[in-house]
Amino acid sequence: MRATMGLLPIALISLISLLSFLPSVNAVKGHDFKTCSQSGFCRRGRALASRAAEADSWESPYSLLKDGLELDSQGSTFKGKVKSALYPDVRFSLRVDVLHDGLFRIRMDEVDGLKKRYDEASKWALVGEPELGSAQWSKGEKEISAVTRTGGERVELKIEYSPLKVGMWISGKEVIALNGRGLLHMEHFRTKEEPAAESSVESSSGEEEQTVLEPAKPTERPTAWFEGAEEDAYWSESFGGNTDSKPKGPESLSLDITFPLAQHLYGIPEHAAPLSLPTTQPPETRYNEPYRLYNLDVFEYLPDSPMALYGSIPLLHAHSKEGTVGALFLTGAETWIDVARPQVGGRGMSTHWVSESGILDLFLLPGPGPHQLFRQYTALTGPSALPQLFALGYHQCRWNYISSKDVLDVNRRFDDALMPLDVTWLDIEYAAEKKYFDWDKSNFPDPRAMVDAVAEAKRKMVAIVDPHLKKTSNYHVYQQAQERDVLIKKSDGKEYEGWCWPGASAYADFFHPDSWQWWRGLFRLGDGKDVKEGEGWIDSTKDLFIWNDMNEPSVFNGPEITMPKDNIHHGGWEHRDVHNLNGMLFHKQTSLALIERTNPPQRPFVLSRSFYPGSQQYGAIWTGDNGGTWEHMKVGLPMVLTLGVTGMAFAGADVGGFFGNPGPEMLTRWYQVGIFAPFFRGHAHIDTKRREPYLLEEPYKSIVRDALELRYAMLPLWYTLMHEASISGTPATRPHYVILPHDEQGFAIDDQYYIGDSMLVKPVTDEGATETSVYLAEDEVYYAFDDYTMYRGISSGAQIIVPSPLEKIPLFYRGGHIIPLRLRPRRSSSLMAQDPFTLVIGLSTKRAAVGELYLDDGESFSFRKGELVWRDFRAIKNGKKGIKIISDDRVPAHPTEAVYGVDLTGTWDPENTYARNIHDVRVERVVVLGLPAAPTSVHAVSNQQKVDLNFKWIKGSSAEGKRGQEGPASVLIIKDPGVGIAKDWEIVVE
Ligand code: NOJ
Repeated sequence: MRATMGLLPIALISLISLLSFLPSVNAVKGHDFKTCSQSGFCRRGRALASRAAEADSWESPYSLLKDGLELDSQGSTFKGKVKSALYPDVRFSLRVDVLHDGLFRIRMDEVDGLKKRYDEASKWALVGEPELGSAQWSKGEKEISAVTRTGGERVELKIEYSPLKVGMWISGKEVIALNGRGLLHMEHFRTKEEPAAESSVESSSGEEEQTVLEPAKPTERPTAWFEGAEEDAYWSESFGGNTDSKPKGPESLSLDITFPLAQHLYGIPEHAAPLSLPTTQPPETRYNEPYRLYNLDVFEYLPDSPMALYGSIPLLHAHSKEGTVGALFLTGAETWIDVARPQVGGRGMSTHWVSESGILDLFLLPGPGPHQLFRQYTALTGPSALPQLFALGYHQCRWNYISSKDVLDVNRRFDDALMPLDVTWLDIEYAAEKKYFDWDKSNFPDPRAMVDAVAEAKRKMVAIVDPHLKKTSNYHVYQQAQERDVLIKKSDGKEYEGWCWPGASAYADFFHPDSWQWWRGLFRLGDGKDVKEGEGWIDSTKDLFIWNDMNEPSVFNGPEITMPKDNIHHGGWEHRDVHNLNGMLFHKQTSLALIERTNPPQRPFVLSRSFYPGSQQYGAIWTGDNGGTWEHMKVGLPMVLTLGVTGMAFAGADVGGFFGNPGPEMLTRWYQVGIFAPFFRGHAHIDTKRREPYLLEEPYKSIVRDALELRYAMLPLWYTLMHEASISGTPATRPHYVILPHDEQGFAIDDQYYIGDSMLVKPVTDEGATETSVYLAEDEVYYAFDDYTMYRGISSGAQIIVPSPLEKIPLFYRGGHIIPLRLRPRRSSSLMAQDPFTLVIGLSTKRAAVGELYLDDGESFSFRKGELVWRDFRAIKNGKKGIKIISDDRVPAHPTEAVYGVDLTGTWDPENTYARNIHDVRVERVVVLGLPAAPTSVHAVSNQQKVDLNFKWIKGSSAEGKRGQEGPASVLIIKDPGVGIAKDWEIVVE
């Protein structure tokens, strides 16, 4: 008998329909996603740029009117009126705010337009109203200028009246120019001109006789030179069978931003592209498409492409050996960015931004160096959250661990293999019919007991909670969202339905304030008594953390696998206005939910796929569905580096590649890559073979165990660095240009990088590699991590070749730094809380070193009240051949300490409860590399007591030796110096 659809059970039909929407399992489907020429506003924007480039002369039609200029009494806010010669009746406002620390904020909007442009991106992205600064303003014939300062530098903003041009100058040089190429264009709201009307002529008999068309008038567009001769996709456009109704018509925003001094541009994630952004325009076109910022679910994306991915951070760093400046372009709408280097090999980078909607809201960040930029961006968009310590350990994920038994088995097998593990993850199959919060009780009969059993071994779990809600009457989350009227609507005002994992789904609108408390309430914990079914999460515990996936949002049957742009959010805004913000709002509420669910609150851990400026405050992100290929492994490095310099310090890529079955060599190398990303998770697609590291054969298994142990040994360093990121925004993973900002040869390097300032790594991402070349660009020594071989750099840049067979990672201590390690292998990070420390001191060529260590309880917010230990370490010269090693308190009196909500200056107690808790934690070993000669004595002074110490000296090269005299470094090992990690002490080497 032939089966017909009519005879198939409903569930099977749903499955078949769902499968037809599922992304293919073979690489990205290019035709699912638009190119610029398939997007109306991008096409218009690029066409505008081409007309300008081809014209004999080109002048922007926009000008600032000399009448009606306003300046407030503090010199902080300037307002003026802007007009476009194209449309003399349309009015625009320009507002410039002088911000603290030499930043400028430039806003432009249409005044009294037919509709309102979206102006709320900053409300979601900024931590608050930015602090105003003041400037000295002066008005000339041709321009207005404002002078302010950052650090010691003079920063000037020059606003030329006509044509309108804005330039930022630092110490007399123009560093950023807006509308210098005349591409500024804010498409004003207009009324649709209906096509020529049909009129019918009645016959004398009264019957309709004929239909005549009024003759078409020749198109006269006085604006044609600028806007083009034809209206192009103004009022609707279709792609892939979906039509965008565009009820507001054209409203895009085009702006050229030029960086006249820049040699390289970095930023604008998320793209699978190098750190130094390749150009998209002649003369050196490397990508034919502009970079696209439009949060999309791109399955197995291309590893070298400007295509849009899951998140968007519209922030550029423009760097040269003279300095770094930044531009942050806040819009929630889809944006395309062309990048060009107008003079081959020369100075100056130009960019052209085209956004679909929204006001112009642009921040100019003066730097003048990468570190100042990190601070400036952090002051605007918030610090990255200090994670719980466990979150820096190893995460084991798979789509899917299929049952409680499976979960416990995985944990046991990590133990059997003596491999550390902190977190076991559950993907969508844990949820009954993909109704998140509802466990599939046939496979997870007692979820709390399972999480408790994992927690017993001092480990955590993560479960996925996606934003699509299964549309069914037996799903309380959907029902409640409907009752509260917090679901996203279609353009006709009815509830929107899209397809995702559960089949027909609705999507909660996190722009709606009524959704916030409700969503957070869903995560409330109970012991089964105090939380009623549907009012919290009965089957959860404080050890279960959350993964927010698919939050671009992903809609399998939507245009470009996302939501129609004419859908409606709270406040009547179209989805097109807020698309790129959507994922962050969801992430934020989940993160707040986890803070609220315990009393006292614990730090949340929520992983998100989609992101926007500000997301760093809510948790980690990962780079989505990469493939198990060497190319994807390679591109993960610049992707994570780019995320780091644009504020997303807590990021990583799926280890092993989400898709495919990496062989043992690739998997091993991928672990050696993964341990050097802030977020370190192995993950795999449901169709792949199991590949937990304990399944590897020897020698791979032992090599991966070594890598895992190295990650755990370095946790004190990672934690200290994440703390630094949480204060200043400086990422833990630092590209060359951040560490050595004057070394031009290093500006494009993205396959080796620094961990903090103190270690350099070049993960091996080539199949079969046995040696690796590493670039050292300072007159300093570097010590190989595993055997202390000393290498000497040179300020003009040296390439050294180091052995890198499979068991070896090119990793170095940088001379001049002190690195805290914990070398006792443990099953998980929290078991290390009372473990002793090893301090490795890589002496510089000047026989000196510095370092720091930050510690707290690793889980609560008590650090905000000063429950922390923060040590400063120094090694200084002592006589002809000795050193003194000094450990001091570092008082948390940092200027941005206000991020903790409390200024600890003057009130901090070094004897705080946490410090007392680790009273007995000691330094068990000090290793000094590169000392010139054998010491005659070593003693410690602590608590005014002097104690002679045992030591061992292995003769080798001195850090102070001449170039060419490198080789194995001299090693001094001071065992058990009897000093506490939280104490003040001195170790004197004579
Ligand atoms: C897409 C995510 O990117 C992937 O990591 C996850 O496993 C699947 N969704 C299933 O939830």
